[in-house]
Amino acid sequence: MSDVPAAIRDAYDPERLRADGHRLVDALADQLAAWQRREGVAVPWRPMDEARAAWAGQGLAGGELVGDLMAAARASTALANPRVMGHQVPPPLPSSALAELVSALVNNGMAVAEMGPAAVPIEMVVIQWMCKTLGLPAGAGGVLTSGGSLGNLTALLAMRQAKAGWNVWRDGAHAGPPLAVIVGSDAHYSVARTVRIMGWGDAGVIPAQVDREHRMTAAAVEAALARAGDRRVIGLVAAAGSTATGAFDPLPELADLAAARGLWLHVDAAHGGGLALSAAHRHRLAGIERADSVVWDAHKLLMMPALVTAVLYKAEASSYEAFAQQASYLFAGTQPSDTWWDLGQRTLECTKRAMSFELWAALRVHGEAWFGACVDRQIALTATLARKLAAAGFEVPLAPTANIVCYRHRPPGLTGAALDAHNRMVRQRVVDDGTFYIVGTQLPGGYHLRSTIMNPLIEDRDLDELVAHLQALCR
Ligand SMILES: Cc1ncc(COP(=O)(O)O)c(C=O)c1O
Repeated sequence: MSDVPAAIRDAYDPERLRADGHRLVDALADQLAAWQRREGVAVPWRPMDEARAAWAGQGLAGGELVGDLMAAARASTALANPRVMGHQVPPPLPSSALAELVSALVNNGMAVAEMGPAAVPIEMVVIQWMCKTLGLPAGAGGVLTSGGSLGNLTALLAMRQAKAGWNVWRDGAHAGPPLAVIVGSDAHYSVARTVRIMGWGDAGVIPAQVDREHRMTAAAVEAALARAGDRRVIGLVAAAGSTATGAFDPLPELADLAAARGLWLHVDAAHGGGLALSAAHRHRLAGIERADSVVWDAHKLLMMPALVTAVLYKAEASSYEAFAQQASYLFAGTQPSDTWWDLGQRTLECTKRAMSFELWAALRVHGEAWFGACVDRQIALTATLARKLAAAGFEVPLAPTANIVCYRHRPPGLTGAALDAHNRMVRQRVVDDGTFYIVGTQLPGGYHLRSTIMNPLIEDRDLDELVAHLQALCR
């Protein structure tokens, strides 16, 4: 007889996992089918004070696992409903959701390889596949981390350590002249946030104005460099798939400029990295192989559940630069590279989920070509949506280069703030109605509606119905 109290034993009972697991997977499969049939609302939105009171009112006792979890699932934004065309978050591959269950159950923290004897080598396999897919040179490497924002911070910390001209880790951020980085005016906010975290303040970001196609050209970077004043510019952050419009910066000319000026080239390919899997669209990423560092979110176009982000470096040794630290209770070597397998030396995270399982399993099961076909379909659907919107009289300021399209409704005579307010109201009505989900963004020309096509199960009729729905709401 075990001396473990029955209540403790019961929670860990493998038979309980089996029974709950079967019931939960059955319920989830039914729910997924319902979402795919477009049943229910896309976003079960209700005011947050009301929602919070309702969830709080249930208390934290008396739960029933499957019922509770399914209630939470049904109250969530239905990313698997093909009428969701909003943010850059995919309906994740069901096989990867199952892989995440395994990751949760083995719970290998993997800061040190002993705590991730499978997770570490599998992560290395995934990282090497990603480096190869982007065409990074031999000797490239990196690490997986929890999100593109953390990825940008990690890569720019490595840039600073490599390029500052003094040992920032040892002597501090301000032991030399003030530093700066050139950043496209459309860059994701996490880049500017990173610079503030590094202690460089507002002046640490020198914005380069994007052109009419929302691309940061080398000429814009030169103009920004001319505005640097007493700041020493050490790097350049390009976007390969910008958040607002999906535009790709011209990487070959930026790589030339970075090489000529001795700047670190960081490419934020959090969104667009997936285009590397598409024979038709990978040319958008030409030049990325010359970057010093790249961030690529697999939880965007690679259909992974959040979060699986790769921080890749042209020279793998750079992956130790961000955190040049010793911790004898954890890491065995005197140099980080002595124990390259202890991945905690390369990320902000100590304990880290074994996030490689999802992508590794998906690649083995579905194959690389499957991902390319998805990307092709998402981009083709986006081009079709842009055409249908334009044909229906919506303004589409920019032909989409990837899977993001911005558009607005322009009633005759409406301009400026009134036009913005009208389009904000249209979006709010879409959200309130709940049948579809779209988002919005402020472009230089004003506020625009915005759709990202993340779901490869979207059909032509969904696009027609969205356009018709918008037209009806606009009337
Ligand atoms: C270009 C770009 N970079 C970085 C991020 C941040 O990624 P994450 O949400 O994984 O932190 C995003 C998110 O949408 C993005 O579009």
